[in-house]
Amino acid sequence: MRTPSVRMGRLIIALAAFGLMGADAPAPSPDFPDGYRDWRHVSTGLIGPHAPAYAANGGFHHIYANPAALRGYKAGRFPDGAVLVYDLFEAVDRGGDVTAQGPRRHVDVMVKDSRRFARTGGWGYAEFAAGERAPRPGMAAACHACHERVQARDYVFSGLRD
Ligand code: HEC
Repeated sequence: MRTPSVRMGRLIIALAAFGLMGADAPAPSPDFPDGYRDWRHVSTGLIGPHAPAYAANGGFHHIYANPAALRGYKAGRFPDGAVLVYDLFEAVDRGGDVTAQGPRRHVDVMVKDSRRFARTGGWGYAEFAAGERAPRPGMAAACHACHERVQARDYVFSGLRD
């Protein structure tokens, strides 16, 4: 016959296992931001074709903000529902004066949901290879580690341009 203490012991083991599973579960991931090309363009940057960083993540990047994110730039804190997109394209020298925009490389996304993404400052991070609607797995921790440099700006590097 099981004593209450044995049952209690099993309950504690079950809860501990559940807690561990929770800690090991992969971070939830934002969805692909359909329609972002109709949002507000925030700014553009270039890591040029001759820069050492070009091979890993260079090219033209265009940053877009949905209406909630626009309010965030103005307020300095981003509300839940804010979505920011970093749209990266190859930069191609064709021999003349112009460095042209080449094919898309990937789409990086940040989504603010302070409960769902509580472990990473309230932001969910995802990277989508060009043409893909499923995120590359396992990226969020590295994204957040770098964006933590601007924790005081609610983890957002860029500023809104007129
Ligand atoms: C090594 C640092 C670093 C890493 C790693 C990094 N980012 Fe960023 N990210 C930046 C910088 C710097 C900017 C601002 C670029 C600009 O202003 O032109 C930026 C901009 C952004 C923006 C536009 C909003 C903002 O903060 O200005 C998004 C969205 C974004 N990154 C998503 C991601 C995602 C998703 C990942 C991971 C897949 C990632 N980033 C990894 C440095 C980083």
